[in-house]
Amino acid sequence: MSGLAIKNVRKSYGAVDIIHGVDVDISDGEFVILVGPSGCGKSTLLRMIAGLEEITGGEISIGGRTVNNLQPKDRDIAMVFQNYALYPQMTVAQNMGFALELAGAKRADIDRKVGEAAKILGLQPLLGRKPAQLSGGQRQRVAMGRAIVRDPKVFLFDEPLSNLDAKLRVKMRAEIKALHQRLKTTIVYVTHDQIEAMTMADKIVVLQGGKVEQIGTPLELYDRPRNVFVAGFLGSPAMNFLEGKLTGGANPRLRLPSGTAIELSAAPVQSDGREVIIGIRPEDLSFARDGGVPARVTVVEPTGSETHVALDLEGRELTWVMRQRAELTPDQTVNLSLRSSNVHFFDKQTQQRL
Ligand SMILES: Nc1ncnc2c1ncn2[C@@H]1O[C@H](COP(=O)(O)OP(=O)(O)O)[C@@H](O)[C@H]1O
Ligand SMILES: [Mg+2]
Repeated sequence: MSGLAIKNVRKSYGAVDIIHGVDVDISDGEFVILVGPSGCGKSTLLRMIAGLEEITGGEISIGGRTVNNLQPKDRDIAMVFQNYALYPQMTVAQNMGFALELAGAKRADIDRKVGEAAKILGLQPLLGRKPAQLSGGQRQRVAMGRAIVRDPKVFLFDEPLSNLDAKLRVKMRAEIKALHQRLKTTIVYVTHDQIEAMTMADKIVVLQGGKVEQIGTPLELYDRPRNVFVAGFLGSPAMNFLEGKLTGGANPRLRLPSGTAIELSAAPVQSDGREVIIGIRPEDLSFARDGGVPARVTVVEPTGSETHVALDLEGRELTWVMRQRAELTPDQTVNLSLRSSNVHFFDKQTQQRL
């Protein structure tokens, strides 16, 4: 049992509260991603799991054992940092075996474990090189190799891909996911990048300002975001939002502040008259031949596989992702329709899902 439980964990630096009581349950073998904007407390939380940072309140347990007062080396975790922290004067093999050496492992065992990890990561031809003779992606793999040889209960990753270029990031994303599928070790992975979270995680924990906003699988969060923050944070391009008042009873409409009314296919029960924020994913927008509300095309961006269209609706910018090739030009007017769109409803005051 190598699950991890974080119970009502808090952190303050002096009088400043940084983490406000976080609860997360992580099952054995689960790949969990902590995601949120810069400064929301992701690294602090991860460092508390690692034991590099004291916790102000609450409890952390790994494999059923409370670790609050255990030294990092006694927690059976291995951490991979953003800057890799490789020893420049050591070869790849020496870097990977160093922790085992420190722990007093036998030479033959070290060589075997380093060899196995090198095989898993495709590092065999590079074992004799120094870090300076490696590419960014190779260094990243060595840092992972160093964690793997220790055979920990839990891997902790803090933004491991943020120093890599975009193309390499995509490749390493797939490699880390494949590695997890192979090793099935519990992973807690921190990133500010929602695409990493969506593509890699079994479970996502969205954090903001030291609080959990929502926990769920990537698609649960994408399909049913609990509030406006989660709705806007996950998904690229981001969800479109419109504010207004629900009217029309059985024929629901969103009345914009200007008075323009947009027809909706449905609205939450007993919400007539309510001030709301509605959210529509860019791929869920659609257009009517007649009826609907006029919107002006401002920018057309073909990506090849799809087209991103920026629209102006009474001064609000909306993004439409079309799967088909668009015959649209800037300044053209199209008729926005939400009658067949999947619309998310949020209360304007509380920002919570209705
Ligand atoms: N040693 C420290 N002393 C005081 N404040 C800190 C310290 N470390 C981090 N913080 C603050 O805690 C908050 C969370 O930081 P951090 O966990 O690094 O965020 P993230 O990793 O999500 O970007 C930030 O506001 C940061 O300024
Ligand atoms: Mg950080």
